[in-house]
Amino acid sequence: MKFKKKILCIGAGYVGGPSMAMIAHKCPDYRVTVVDINSERIDAWNSPHLPVYEPGLDKIVKQCRGKNLFFSKDIENQIKENDLIFVSVNTPTKTYGAGADMAADLQYLEKTARQILKYSHSSKIVIEKSTLPVKTALTMEKILSSAKGKIKFEVLSNPEFMAEGSAMNDLENPDRVLIGSRETKSGLKARARLVEIYARWVPLKKIITSNIWSSELSKLVANAFLAQRVSSINSISALCEKTDADIVEVAKAVGLDSRIGDKFLRAGVGFGGSCFKKDIFNLVYLCHYYGLREVASYWENIIKINQYQQDRFIANILHAMFGTLAGKKICILGFAFKADTSDTRESPAIYISQKLLTEQAELTISDPRALKNAAIDLAGVKGKITYIDDPYKAAAGCHALLILTDWEMYRTLDYRKLYRSMVKPAFLFDGRNIVDYQKCHAIGFNIYPIGRKALTHF
Ligand SMILES: NC(=O)c1ccc[n+]([C@@H]2O[C@H](COP(=O)([O-])OP(=O)(O)OC[C@H]3O[C@@H](n4cnc5c(N)ncnc54)[C@H](O)[C@@H]3O)[C@@H](O)[C@H]2O)c1
Repeated sequence: MKFKKKILCIGAGYVGGPSMAMIAHKCPDYRVTVVDINSERIDAWNSPHLPVYEPGLDKIVKQCRGKNLFFSKDIENQIKENDLIFVSVNTPTKTYGAGADMAADLQYLEKTARQILKYSHSSKIVIEKSTLPVKTALTMEKILSSAKGKIKFEVLSNPEFMAEGSAMNDLENPDRVLIGSRETKSGLKARARLVEIYARWVPLKKIITSNIWSSELSKLVANAFLAQRVSSINSISALCEKTDADIVEVAKAVGLDSRIGDKFLRAGVGFGGSCFKKDIFNLVYLCHYYGLREVASYWENIIKINQYQQDRFIANILHAMFGTLAGKKICILGFAFKADTSDTRESPAIYISQKLLTEQAELTISDPRALKNAAIDLAGVKGKITYIDDPYKAAAGCHALLILTDWEMYRTLDYRKLYRSMVKPAFLFDGRNIVDYQKCHAIGFNIYPIGRKALTHF
């Protein structure tokens, strides 16, 4: 079959895989190829067990794979063959040298730019899909502009706003698609070529364009604003616990103001995921770089509150359980950083588990999708940990239940059955405020939600 467009994506991760699957699904006349240096990942994308769990992803990949969606290890030839190249490699926080623990580590991006330069025999449009510090496109351009001869590269910014857990729906019905380019004749032409792809299924009014720096910065700012809402409501949950105000009632009253809105106003153990923390650090680092100390410190506090919320949660457990956890069995329900994903990167469950193990608690961890990643995250951590799929088996014989992920199934567990199998007095710490806490109290639990009055039998 002759394809109308040939698209490549470098990086077959949580963003590259799902976003390219959506393009392939919506544009059957385009050939979409995804490459990665991690050959195990590519094998997994070509197997029945995809490396990423997202509701709806399996179906689309199985429909398109081998027809117009391909996962390949042959980076060199794929770069040669394609002239529209998305770059969706990881951009973690730097762990070494200047800017350690704050700046974005751009080594993967730079290596990708050099690969593109090395293997390209024709002009290409290179599209930044990774989340990057503002002005990164300049670096890409500098590297790519050293190409010899007539080969020209146009760099676009097209940050991805999908959220894990609802990626397929977000990709299919995005709030907006943002495309930034240089405002030159060739920049605008490249921009139009990318608009054409999304316009296949996204209404034109939702495809917004901007200059390339605004586009790069908008993604960092969007994530910082989302995280800010979580830290704002969590900070108030601490005040609620001191004053008998109820965070659920406060959030409802505040969120009904149409200027504020009700999304992202749920108190809990804090945000996780691979993006929020690293993107805020990235923003903070940029502000320092440009001499904006006050702005940097404003955003840095979002992360401090997130950490504070987790420490507070642990301190509450310790205090409620009579000051010692040594030898006590604690069941953790949910290890993924949010519901509907297997991703555990920066999950609050990692830090909370480590702290509980330091207190010599024994952990049983249950999660419908993330147990494999949980075992990787906690490998080498000292202490007794058991991983059990079935939440009822995991809870049996435990002193306390901790809900750390808002999986839908945890709302509807048979808490009476769980209670019966546990050591008494039985504790329930609801780190996501998802259970009917009065009902659980009536069953016999001593229950500690977040930002609401604890209900105990003491
Ligand atoms: N995960 C999310 O929810 C999300 C949402 C929006 C944006 N982002 C951003 O998208 C980018 C990718 O995130 P992710 O979660 O998909 O990361 P990821 O770690 O899951 O995937 C990145 C992939 O890139 C591959 N890679 C790295 N260097 C490479 C190279 N030189 N050649 C080929 N492959 C290479 C890695 O092996 C890895 O498989 C990041 O910048 C992230 O901030 C992530």
